[in-house]
Amino acid sequence: MPSSSTLPNSTLPSSTLDRVLVLEMVRVTEKAAIACRAQVGRGDEHAADAAAVEAMRDALNELDFDGTIVIGEGERDEAPMLFIGEKVGRAQGTGPKIDIALDPLEGTTIAAKAGPNALAVLAIAEEGGLLNAPDVYMDKIAIGPGYAEGVIDLAKSVTANVTALAAAKGVTPAEITACVLDRPRHEALIKELRGIGCGIMLIGDGDVAGVIATTNPDTGIDIYLGSGGAPEGVLAAAALRCVGGQFQGRLVFRNEDEKARARKWGVTDFDRIYKLGDLAKGDVIFAATGVTDGSLLAGVKTRRDGVVTTESVVMRASTGTVRWVRGEHRNLTG
Ligand code: FBP
Repeated sequence: MPSSSTLPNSTLPSSTLDRVLVLEMVRVTEKAAIACRAQVGRGDEHAADAAAVEAMRDALNELDFDGTIVIGEGERDEAPMLFIGEKVGRAQGTGPKIDIALDPLEGTTIAAKAGPNALAVLAIAEEGGLLNAPDVYMDKIAIGPGYAEGVIDLAKSVTANVTALAAAKGVTPAEITACVLDRPRHEALIKELRGIGCGIMLIGDGDVAGVIATTNPDTGIDIYLGSGGAPEGVLAAAALRCVGGQFQGRLVFRNEDEKARARKWGVTDFDRIYKLGDLAKGDVIFAATGVTDGSLLAGVKTRRDGVVTTESVVMRASTGTVRWVRGEHRNLTG
């Protein structure tokens, strides 16, 4: 396979994200996770996030591509680094054009409280491969691989979806476990799930991990339901593009200002249900490193000998390869 730096800018075919980038992405998420380790459990969400953001940006700027942040820390006026539209990579104008969705610290509150499932996470795709999602809420539904397409449908009721999933799994709705963010806005959803006897794993934060948990039978989670950040929806969809599974999302607008933001990113149909391929298409690489221990990954640890250990996962859509990477980091300066 040719090196990405030799490929013409905008003509990358759908399976030629340079495979070297697979491991480079792990380096990027590792650096972000390691950088914020000192802030875990310190009660300062902002400091934890800032450390991860700076490290991720530095790591991206060491890579030979012409990258553009499409999902980042916010719009330019609210995020000094890794803002949407920011160019990263040291081959601007010459290297392959890559779109990047990232969350250097997914679960800032989790990290501040040393809770489970904080991650450093990113996804990359060829230019145009990731939805430019506005920073609004998104209604989400997700299941893991192995089910016929169409088992879930966001246009249908929660009861209809859980019943259909249970039938496809060959169990009763009472044997299904849903993962839901523990929020007052989910009161009706939780009531409906309990009404059909469904088990619920309520999580405090971190719905990227919550969605990905549906793909791992060890978690016991069959379905993810409820609203969370739209940017996190794109990241989770990118992961499911690689490992399989189904995901649908619909943007939620609480006011006209949010609709105006969405229009800026090209959204015209405010009721559209986005499927996996609408959120992340073509070749996609997804990488995550654990910041704190969780269902997906172990968090960053410092051994007694000073070696810092990390656990990461990196996946690629065009091959379906999933790699679990355990890192031992010596001689760290930060
Ligand atoms: P942050 O890392 O930005 O704090 O996001 C954590 C998170 O729980 C996401 O996983 C989720 O999509 C979103 O917040 C939910 O938003 P809210 O806390 O407003 O319900």
